Amino acid sequence: MMTIQEKIKKLKTEKNAVILAHYYQEEAIQDVADYVGDSLGLSQVAAKTDADIIVFAGVHFMAETAKILSPNKMVVLPDLEAGCSLADSCPPQEFKKFVDAHPNHTVITYVNCSAEVKALTDIVCTSSNALKIVNSIPKETPIIFAPDRNLGKYIMKETGREMLLWDGSCVVHEAFSLEKLIKLHQENPEHVIIAHPESEEHILNVATYVGSTAGMINYVKKHQDQKFIVATEAGILYKMQQEVPHTELIPAPAKEDNTCACSECAFMKVNTLQKLYDCLKNESPQIEVSKKIREKALVPINRMLALSENLSK
Ligand code: 13P
Ligand code: SF4
Repeated sequence: MMTIQEKIKKLKTEKNAVILAHYYQEEAIQDVADYVGDSLGLSQVAAKTDADIIVFAGVHFMAETAKILSPNKMVVLPDLEAGCSLADSCPPQEFKKFVDAHPNHTVITYVNCSAEVKALTDIVCTSSNALKIVNSIPKETPIIFAPDRNLGKYIMKETGREMLLWDGSCVVHEAFSLEKLIKLHQENPEHVIIAHPESEEHILNVATYVGSTAGMINYVKKHQDQKFIVATEAGILYKMQQEVPHTELIPAPAKEDNTCACSECAFMKVNTLQKLYDCLKNESPQIEVSKKIREKALVPINRMLALSENLSK
């Protein structure tokens, strides 16, 4: 009797499929993946793969980005309910009105948005390259930044650029409690706080390092003699701990007490190993993007990739 992991591996070879997983996916999924990474790394791999099928173990906007980059490949997502509160906070019709009301602005969108919103964009960014992308825009050009207001505020602070911000946010990163974090840090004063820039300003203000999921992993790898409190979705701790097995890592505490006393993305966690197997076997559910939207959305994604060649991976 084959295990589900063996069945996935066999099917993957038979169908020439590749499994791409985000760091927030459950451990069993990360273990069967060919590549585990942040949004930028995943899009770079999706753009270059020679597989016929991309099994995207992540959320919808990530799989959609893969489909835009590789339209001739089949892209399957284990569960279509794997959405994103941040992407949902920017409905395309309302965003179009906002963009139309502010002509002459360069529109930068964080990759956590729908293909329709990307189609209204000049250049996409991820948390790995956001500062670089914003700095690439001439100083006198006004910028619209969407959808994450926390990342937007952080970029403004770091670059000194004023930007017009869309008022969106991520439920998972806004769940961290500053009060509990400070208490935890007082109890563990040797631990260094590191945070994802989707977190609120008061959390970022107490962090020693702010960066994408891949950036946070690279940071702890470079500072293995230190101990860390990690303010992002708790799934990252699995890969991070594998990279630094002797380093103490504590997840940052959430406002509400939940099962892990940390912050988990319910959208990421709807994907399971069984659903991953099923979607590869049934070749469903597939991600589709209309030609019109895809062609428009590809331009700002490619601009981002061109500016990010030596980043992530
Ligand atoms: P990264 O690009 O840093 O992996 O972020 C993805 C994400 O959804 C964070 O909430
Ligand atoms: Fe979206 Fe937040 Fe989940 Fe990332 S952690 S996928 S931004 S809801």
